[in-house]
Amino acid sequence: MSLSTAPATERPETLTDANWWRQAAVYQIYPRSFADANGDGIGDLQGITAKVPYLKSLGVDAVWLSPFYPSALADGGYDVADYRDVDPKIGTLDDFDRMRSALHDAGIKLVVDIVPNHSSNEHRWFQQALAAGRGSVERDRYIFREGRGDNGELPPSDWTSIFGGPAWTQVEDGQWYLHLFAPEQPDFNWSNPEVREDFLTTLRFWSDRGVDGFRIDVAHALSKDLSDPLPSEAELNQIDRSSGTHPIWDRDEVHEIYAEWRKLFDSYDPPRTAVAEAWVERHRRPRYASAQGLGQAFEFDLLTQEFDAAAFREVVTDSLELAAESGSSSTWVLSNHDVVRHATRYGLPPLQASVGSTERDQKQGQAWVLAGAPETALDRARGERRARAASLFELALPGSAYLYQGEELGLHEVGDIADEARQDPTFFRNPGVDKGRDGCRVPLPWSSEGSSFGFGSGHAHLPQPQWFGDYSVAAQDGTAGSTLELYRAALRLRRELQGAETLQWLETARPDVLSFERPGGWVVVTNFGTEPVDLPEGELLLSSAELVAGALPGEATAWLRR
Ligand code: GLC
Repeated sequence: MSLSTAPATERPETLTDANWWRQAAVYQIYPRSFADANGDGIGDLQGITAKVPYLKSLGVDAVWLSPFYPSALADGGYDVADYRDVDPKIGTLDDFDRMRSALHDAGIKLVVDIVPNHSSNEHRWFQQALAAGRGSVERDRYIFREGRGDNGELPPSDWTSIFGGPAWTQVEDGQWYLHLFAPEQPDFNWSNPEVREDFLTTLRFWSDRGVDGFRIDVAHALSKDLSDPLPSEAELNQIDRSSGTHPIWDRDEVHEIYAEWRKLFDSYDPPRTAVAEAWVERHRRPRYASAQGLGQAFEFDLLTQEFDAAAFREVVTDSLELAAESGSSSTWVLSNHDVVRHATRYGLPPLQASVGSTERDQKQGQAWVLAGAPETALDRARGERRARAASLFELALPGSAYLYQGEELGLHEVGDIADEARQDPTFFRNPGVDKGRDGCRVPLPWSSEGSSFGFGSGHAHLPQPQWFGDYSVAAQDGTAGSTLELYRAALRLRRELQGAETLQWLETARPDVLSFERPGGWVVVTNFGTEPVDLPEGELLLSSAELVAGALPGEATAWLRR
């Protein structure tokens, strides 16, 4: 039941407010899988523009657009061939401008993804580097090295890439280049001033085009120290990551880059925002989030937890402390394009949907998810129940909430994509081990039936299962108790109730029940257990499940006002 007695309120004027991001609900769009206006099977910018009324009725404050730049799609667009254009497969710069205007007219901000660690191997600079040969200024924009062995036939080091397989690839004249991810994603050399200058140009290009903020991909890897001799993989994994001196990850000097970016961001009115994707140790996060740096950094700690009261409480307390340290606001994430959807994670037995458990994760500290759990182990209803409870918990927290397209539909991961239909490089580079991330990137179902469930007029670039229709927007729109209506009510109320960025824990009689109060008498109760729990006095505003004789059932959250 999603019961709301509060009237809808008008969106406050946020477009000129420099602090709009602090408690924003930001909706992530994976553009190729959102809405397909031209029926070619790939989502596009016109498709997004057509769905702006949907985003407005959902009640989000901002959209974060995953990469939409020209790309051969070796890594779903995170292999960028041109940072200052739109992929012709999904639109034009004019389409981009129309989309931005439509979003702004609806009072929704626009955040775009910037991928500065690596480009596509199809980027003009990489092609020039290949043509120019060893020792050239063109090669110096990337990380080229001679190999080991008598004839340089061995890679400069034995490092494996984040996606599996070697991290070095040899080019025709015998040199090797570094790619922390796929071979189609050569790493830039950030000690080259031209690289730095070019990214400033890119950030200005999009800021001038009215973009409100940036999400910075792999923000902790740009600065590297690759002086000889390179450590072996085993040695690399032993090097301390907590002091800013690791050869690759989270080096102190990366902040010089962001200090420069911050000056650029602050030259706009309102200042452009930025959020770092930085998988770094706890005490190192505030520097990315500081006002002299990017301004905000993702906290992925909630995402890596089981559905558990003690774990959630610890993470929230910790994240709020970190936010206070940096002066930024907290960021909450339950799903994104890299992990198994939370409705599915919470419906699988613990560890089957483990996050951060592979050797690869430990290398980068990244929460890739092994989607290896058998579908039969999945308790769908339980996963959805818990996901609704967790989302309502998340949306009541102080700070900004990052939502991933489809979570407002309670959508599950698609676990059974045929091997030949898969696209994610992590699947191909880890045969038989890792299913990859395609399961959370399947195009959204807008209608209950019809071609590609209303995603477009043709097929969908990743196959949609039959059950998708039941989760479609059409099936849930206006349906009392649907997950979509729950999110709409929550986002509307959140805007009304949101005050200072603080919370106070309220003690409960049970260890599996959490409760907190936000300023203004907004009380939140989440029952992580299975036995119903009595609610405190107050006006019930919203709940993720119908009350049972006045009590909150198991695996549910309620919002009250006292
Ligand atoms: C980030 C992105 C992920 C991508 C990787 C390489 O972690 O979120 O999707 O594959 O960077 O760019």
